[in-house]
Amino acid sequence: MMFMHVVGARPNFMKAAPVMAAFKTRGWRQMLIHTGQHYDELMSDVMFMQLGLPQPDVNLAVGSGSHASQTAAVMTALERVLSQNRPEMLVLYGDVNSTLAGAVTAAKMGVPIAHVEAGVRSHDRSMPEEINRLVTDRLSTVLFAPSSRARENLIAEGMPPEAVHSVGNVMIDTLEWSMSQVDARAVLTTPGIPAGTPYVLVTLHRPVTVDDDDLLHGVAAALSTIAEMHCPVIFPVHPRTRSKLGPAGHPRLHLIGPMGYLEFVSLQKNARLIITDSGGVQVEAAHLGVPCLTFRDNTEWPETIAAGANTLIGRDPQQLVRAATHALSSSPRPFTLPADWDGHTAERIAEVLERSCW
Ligand code: UD1
Repeated sequence: MMFMHVVGARPNFMKAAPVMAAFKTRGWRQMLIHTGQHYDELMSDVMFMQLGLPQPDVNLAVGSGSHASQTAAVMTALERVLSQNRPEMLVLYGDVNSTLAGAVTAAKMGVPIAHVEAGVRSHDRSMPEEINRLVTDRLSTVLFAPSSRARENLIAEGMPPEAVHSVGNVMIDTLEWSMSQVDARAVLTTPGIPAGTPYVLVTLHRPVTVDDDDLLHGVAAALSTIAEMHCPVIFPVHPRTRSKLGPAGHPRLHLIGPMGYLEFVSLQKNARLIITDSGGVQVEAAHLGVPCLTFRDNTEWPETIAAGANTLIGRDPQQLVRAATHALSSSPRPFTLPADWDGHTAERIAEVLERSCW
């Protein structure tokens, strides 16, 4: 029995690391394929090193491109790798283009697919990730849902209940592991501002936020206002956003490059408030107990909203200033997240596969 894991973009790496580690403990044969969707040192190499992921057995080096060309490039290259190595199961993570490409290629070659983070839905098909999630889930053999809500989504879409396993959120496994690493390495937390200063942490990279020049400049002005009124704002900028954003408009607005996983976790853990349009950051902020404002109209993580850990604020820069002002002047309320977001998801995934494949 050989498992082949496919990863390609930054949010895949922290999901694959604990699963590969759990499989390794069991002595299972596995291969790691990196599609090369993300290729910058800070977006990929540093993450691999910090997360203890093995060097990929194959790097497809597809790089950037339109959605169709990037997906097609992964499919073409992966088809060759699959026919040469013939794994018994392909393991896919999350919702990036590499995930979709892996699902379509494997399904057509008759290779069973396990999807980690299945059933997550924003119900917004203008998001490329939603299309990737719908197609990947539809084609998967075993679906690992991160919550009972995700499981219900899959059942409502007609997936056979026996194929769907609610195992918890694998991102939390890595986040919990990282806490000791962050403390042990005394990771630098606040670049450009004195240690102990309260700060707001920002991540914005979705096309819907950063591809509209007027909106992006409105957001940049709102962040300057928050920096002026309240405290420093730290914004590690994704390459996609960097090319569109001008210089920082306020001395307390710190635009910095993408960060390693541990540096970013450390920044999250110590932030007073997080503003994001990312999916994963909403989950991490909730688990770390840091108030989060999600600069979007919808979320694929309603569990964080239901718990009161996260607030959806829409995409209006003025509302962003108002919501940040409110959040910074209130004390965070206690909340409870799903019980199986407990750091043991990869173990449960391995147990399910052990029962069904061996
Ligand atoms: C992808 C995922 C998104 C995830 C994000 C995390 C899809 C559809 N989207 O979006 O769900 O939240 O990763 O980062 O798969 N670039 C670089 N260096 C890199 C990678 C990208 O400079 O290492 C630049 C390129 O200009 C590229 C652009 O970023 O065209 C976008 O990269 P891409 O992989 O297409 O999508 P992301 O926006 O990163």
